Parts: sequence; structure tokens; C-alpha cells
Amino acid sequence: MKKVDPIVQPAWKQLKEEVERIRGRTLRGMFHEDPERPAKYLLSAGDLLIDYSCNLIDDHVLAALFRLALDCGVPDARDEMFRGHHINETEDRAVLHVALRLPREASLVVDGRDVVPEVHRVLDRMEDFVRRVWSGGWKGYSGERIRSVVNIGIGGSDLGPAMAVEALKPFSRRDLTVRFVSNVDATDFVEKTRDLDPRSTLFIISSKTFTTQETMTNAATARQWCLDAYGGDRRAVERHFVAVSTNREKVAEFGIHPENTFEFWDWVGGRYSMCSAIGLSVMLAIGPDHFRQMLAGFHAMDNHFRTAPMERNAPLLLGLLGIWYVNFWGAETWAVIPYEQYLQRFPAYLQQLDMESNGKSVSRSGRPVTWQTGPILWGEPGTNGQHSFFQLLHQGTHLVPIDLIGFARSHNELGDHHQKLIANMFAQASALAFGRTREEVEAEGTPERLVPFRVFNGNRPCNVIMAPQLTPSVLGQLIALYEHKVFVQGVIWNIYSFDQWGVELGKGIAGRILGRLKGESDEELDPAAEHRLSLYRSLREKG
Ligand code: F6P
Repeated sequence: MKKVDPIVQPAWKQLKEEVERIRGRTLRGMFHEDPERPAKYLLSAGDLLIDYSCNLIDDHVLAALFRLALDCGVPDARDEMFRGHHINETEDRAVLHVALRLPREASLVVDGRDVVPEVHRVLDRMEDFVRRVWSGGWKGYSGERIRSVVNIGIGGSDLGPAMAVEALKPFSRRDLTVRFVSNVDATDFVEKTRDLDPRSTLFIISSKTFTTQETMTNAATARQWCLDAYGGDRRAVERHFVAVSTNREKVAEFGIHPENTFEFWDWVGGRYSMCSAIGLSVMLAIGPDHFRQMLAGFHAMDNHFRTAPMERNAPLLLGLLGIWYVNFWGAETWAVIPYEQYLQRFPAYLQQLDMESNGKSVSRSGRPVTWQTGPILWGEPGTNGQHSFFQLLHQGTHLVPIDLIGFARSHNELGDHHQKLIANMFAQASALAFGRTREEVEAEGTPERLVPFRVFNGNRPCNVIMAPQLTPSVLGQLIALYEHKVFVQGVIWNIYSFDQWGVELGKGIAGRILGRLKGESDEELDPAAEHRLSLYRSLREKG
């Protein structure tokens, strides 16, 4: 992969000039001057329509952004990823989540081995397992059928599946409860299992490494919870626990039978793993057919990213728009607002995808970057956000680019709810872009002293992403769109998007503090931690 700093590219310099030029213009003016703008800045990718007309851009800006992508080697880097090169250099690994959704007849050789047959072997095993659970053929130790599934995992082993199970609820079996326990806070486990019967509950222990503290703690608690119901009979574990992991040894140590282990591979990053066996809980919820439709949706977007020309390439374009605002307009955060209740966990999922990937400050050459990298991503479903933080988006001092996501059809067409929902999404896009001028406010007869407060400056950019309906395939397309957007940005920022060293330090310190808390170590901590430890102890004594 090319290791070039973006700021030395001529296109970077040009974009600095473009931003000054565009600053003098308004979206109102740009729409007025070019009646074709709404149709011109509209892109379709599979089932997704991406309206990017309300961005602070014109053809000159776009041309410079595309040049930047070329200068930074985005097309070559993309091809290297799809070919299985070890682009995750700090961990010396290929990055091949795209292989997880290749069709059966495809082939992709990684390190001398075609991975596609392996991918489909595991998918087929997952399917067989799901069909057995669904039919009642797989029984709990006491012979009861499985009525509840609890996925225990965290980060990439939780967020994607939890988001997808919620997103695809209309496609799920309603008589099977699927829950997610992630937090090491026991409350998570206690509350999620409170009304479950251990004899009809199946646990999926999902962990790439099978060493993650939170997951292993929750898994041990779950095992005890299960054993308590069976008078300590350890044979029960085999019928109530399956594992998803790359670490077969640790799984066996825990007591889960190899036959009940679904594997994946080190070339699948945690936050890119929901198409692997990490998606087992999703398949259990929605069934193999819907799961495969979701994979086909991912694959369609992979193909689009791989083959669409630059100007029509949705992930590339969204990535470049991100660069435009982060690096040239000083945007520090990015909001994603789904106008779809079923996507309520989508922003949380994207937070790990984006921030764990591109929250880096050392370039691929090992030097500190002198440009901004990944923004802070956040969001909540519309319309709820409108009655909370949208005030800041409209009239605050920060520029926050926004993705608004909505669907033509709801799964719950009740009265005029959906029309109201969509009216609100379109209204927010217009209000953000065009605002309301002083003259307009005055013309409404607003008292003079209130006029300044009722003016909206507008020029606040957004993308409006639409699709016919939220289906498994559309969800796959949407997720892959963001995966590849993150990839494009990582290449341009010249950072490694597929490692996550930044999570290690805290884990190590937590381990040492835990040793002290449990009285198993007398290792001295930093002065702040020492002080907090004594505060904690005295609070507990009082309590
Ligand atoms: O701590 C961060 C992280 O390593 C994520 O990257 C990963 O998704 C998560 O922990 C869970 O890891 P595992 O699947 O190995 O339990």
C-alpha cells in the first residue's frame, strides 16, 4: 500500500483554495444557479439512492477530491484489499471481510489457500445448526426446545449482530427471544436473563480471541447460571453453549465441544466480522435465507465499490465528502440519523466501525500525522433527535455534517406515521441546507428584537440516503457502504484502519488495578489510581 501523506498532494493544496471559494457561496445560491443540481448530485448504488446535493460542493471541488483519492492510491489500495494482500501491516494480516460474502462459486486465494470453500463450509454448518434449533431438533439438556438465545460478546462480537437483530426484527421469528450481553457490569447479565429459563436458553459465546475480559467473565457467569439449574451436572454445558471464535484451544478449555464451535479467521477484523459466524445470533433470529440475502446485499455493495467508476462510486464519494469536511472545514463530528426505528442501534454500531478504525494519529510511515483523521461519530434515530440535539445542528457554532437515512416504505404502515416521519426527514435536510434569512423572518411579522434568534444561517451539509425498504439485503448494502467509506478515508489519511492498539493500554492498567482490588498483587499504581482506590475502599466501607 502506498504510504503518501495527503497534505503533500497538489489536490490538497487546491482543496484549500476551493474551500475559500465555496465559503463565499450558499446552498440556496447553488441550487438557484443550477436547476439540475438535485438530479446531478444523486447517486444510485444497488437499492440505495444517495442524494448529496445538499453538500458545500460543486464540480470543481469534486474534481479535486477525486484527484486526491487517485494521488493517495485509493483504487490500488482497494484492489490490494480485495486480492488479500496483508494491508493490515502492523498485525501482518490480510483484510478480507469481503470474502465472507462471496458467492459459493467464487474463489479467493489468501496465503496460498482458497478461503471461499471454508467460508461456505462454516455458513452451511451455521445453517444446519439454526435449522435444528428452529425445528426443535436441538434440545436443551432436559429435552426442552430452545426458546431464548443469548449472545455473549463485546465490541465487534456484539454491536453488529445486536444492531442487525434489531434492524431485521420484521424478518425474525418472534417466538425465539434473542438477547445480547456485553458489559462486564453484572447488571447486564442479570437483567437480560432475569425472565429466562436456563433449560430453554442457548448461549453463544462470541469472541474472536476468546480472551476478552468482559466476555469471558460473562461466559463463566452464564455457565454457572446454567449449572445451577442442573444441579452442577457439567454435561449440560454442551447442550446450552456454543462458541464462535478463531481460538479453538481456549474454546475447548472453557468446555465447549469442538462440534459446537463455529470458526472464523484472523483475516476478519472484529468490527468487520458480522458476516462471519459472529452473525450466528442474527441467523438464529432471521433464518438462513434472510441471512444469505443480507450477505448478497453486502456483496452487491462490495462489487459496486470494486467496479463503479470514481464519479459514481458511493463509498468513495461518501469517504471524500468526509475528508472535505473534516480536513478543510474543521468538522470534528459526524452525525448519522436513521429515520427508521429499527435502525436505532446503527449509530452505535458505526461508532466502533469508524472510530476504532480511523481514530489514529500515527501515519503508515510511523510518524505523527499533522492532519485530522477520523471524526467523532454519533447519532440517534429521527425524529427523536429533532427534539434534543438538532437545535445545535441548526443554530450552534459547530459544523456537523449529517447522514439522514430513510425508507420509502415502513414495516409498520400505521395511519400517517410514515408520511410524518419522512416529511420530517426531508424538512430537516431543507432547513439545514437553506435556513431562513433575516428578510424571511421579518416578513413573517416577527418582533424586531426576536429576529436574530429566529434566523437560520443554513449551509449545513447533509447526505440523504434512501432505499425502498429496510430488508436484509438493503441492510447489507448499507453496512458495506460505510465499511468501504471508512476504508477510503483510512487510505487517504495514510493510517492503518485495521488495527486497534489504542484499546490495549486501558486493558493492561485495568488488569493491574484488579489485582490490587482483589488483594492478589501489591504492585504500586500511578498516584491518581492509588488515590481513587482508597476513595473507593472507604466508600464501600461506608456503604
Ligand atoms: O478491545 C477492542 C476489541 O479488540 C475489538 O476490536 C473487538 O471487536 C472486541 O475487542 C472484542 O474482541 P473479541 O471478539 O476478541 O472478544
